[in-house]
Amino acid sequence: MTKRNQTETKPMLRMLIVEDDASTRKALSHLLGDRFIVEACELAEEAETLLGEFRPDIILTDVRLPGESGLALLDKARVVAPEAIVIVMTGHSSIETAVQAMRSGARDFIVKPINFEALDLVISRELEHQQIALDVKRLREQALDRINDEGIWGESEEMQSILKTAVDVADSHATVLLTGESGTGKDIVARFLHRHSSRRDHPFVAVNCGAIPENLLESEFFGHEKGAFTGAHAQKLGRFEQANHGTLFLDEIGDLPINLQVKLLRALQERQIDRVGGTGPINIDVRVIAATNQDLEKRRDAGAFREDLFYRLNVIQLKMPPLRERKADIPSLWSRFIDRFATRENLPIPKAGAGVLNALYSYDWPGNVRELENVAERAVIMSRGAEIQLAHLPASVRESVPCAPGIRIPGSTLDDIEKEAILRTLAAVNGSTSRAASMLGVSVRKIQYRLQRWRDEAHLDSDELPQEPRRSDHPLGTATKTATA
Ligand SMILES: Nc1ncnc2c1ncn2[C@@H]1O[C@H](COP(=O)(O)OP(=O)(O)O)[C@@H](O)[C@H]1O
Ligand SMILES: [Mg+2]
Repeated sequence: MTKRNQTETKPMLRMLIVEDDASTRKALSHLLGDRFIVEACELAEEAETLLGEFRPDIILTDVRLPGESGLALLDKARVVAPEAIVIVMTGHSSIETAVQAMRSGARDFIVKPINFEALDLVISRELEHQQIALDVKRLREQALDRINDEGIWGESEEMQSILKTAVDVADSHATVLLTGESGTGKDIVARFLHRHSSRRDHPFVAVNCGAIPENLLESEFFGHEKGAFTGAHAQKLGRFEQANHGTLFLDEIGDLPINLQVKLLRALQERQIDRVGGTGPINIDVRVIAATNQDLEKRRDAGAFREDLFYRLNVIQLKMPPLRERKADIPSLWSRFIDRFATRENLPIPKAGAGVLNALYSYDWPGNVRELENVAERAVIMSRGAEIQLAHLPASVRESVPCAPGIRIPGSTLDDIEKEAILRTLAAVNGSTSRAASMLGVSVRKIQYRLQRWRDEAHLDSDELPQEPRRSDHPLGTATKTATA
């Protein structure tokens, strides 16, 4: 980030320098003074008062100070000025402390004697990261705002693109076919379509085609007149008529018997239905949404599903991807389910303990979002509002975390174990260095440094190790070998 950028397009940021050595302090103030509004002090205690008064955007602090240490300042800053970027300065002998500082939330460290060019670089990069993080946060909030009131959550590109298409087609009369495994959200997307259409003030009527006995289906769909068959004691409106001017959701359409398929096709084409035992056709105005977790094309090829009906229903198809193919949605879905169940149970909203998110990421979720919802409900109830532990997850989820087959403890060096841990974590989170960093409790930069080092050391060709991320917060920003294969 150049000085021009800083001063022309944005208000100057405030920097707090904490350094007990007077000449270094002066030099830093002088050098940084034309990029930032600088305040400098000698002691952590002074700096702590300045956190509230000066409200620094960046804190550049020495670790070793005469009174309280830079680490103590860091702890205070995290509470009082959580948005501030903290960069620590440290001597060669105290790199360990610097690592500790990074664990406690420092964003970076620089080793003394200070090379000002390097410092400049570190600051610029951190500001850039901060900007990206803010952008991502803002985009995320916007995305959540848009879909929050719908109760449909999903930050992944897959879900966002489905919701976008859904908004686009919501108001058309065309039939929508929702396909996807059970629990992927076909139901809630059907309701979403209805709410976004001009039919929203009319009924949304759902029929589960697989749950109604075959001999009752026709009357369920189209209604019957009194005395139409034994047991028809009164006239009954069918689902089509109940949904008039609104939306009819035909769930599990793949289970519809052939003879009903013919009648459904006619209703869709003619926009007319016949009540069982009725005297003439009745006009209806219904928008149909159908859903299935079966492969309708296969059913069609097998002769179990009529081709003409298939084409009639398949005007717009929305494919709901299984959760395992959009793991980026897991954290937000999880935290929202946890919030919801904790609130319902009148419990404080529990945090996720060590390893929990990792396990949620590693698991395959055959039951998709419905299964995640159930696991969250169970975890809230079992943890009673305290931190959610691995033990509160079902064994199947807990045991999904891969243990490295190539790594033996003892028998491997710490470096090997570290490498394995980083690469496996990256693979589990689709290569997002920021997610991996937060799961491993280290800085993003540490991971980036390691990747670079391994690449340099091994002279591996470029696809052997994850590449530098284009955008650290984006799950697909980095490609791992497995993800690109
Ligand atoms: N994107 C999502 N956001 C919030 N809840 C979801 C989402 N997808 C699914 N669910 C929840 O998961 C459960 C299963 O979803 P549902 O729409 O019934 O799936 P399907 O009809 O595909 O079997 C429901 O409780 C639903 O509210
Ligand atoms: Mg369903």
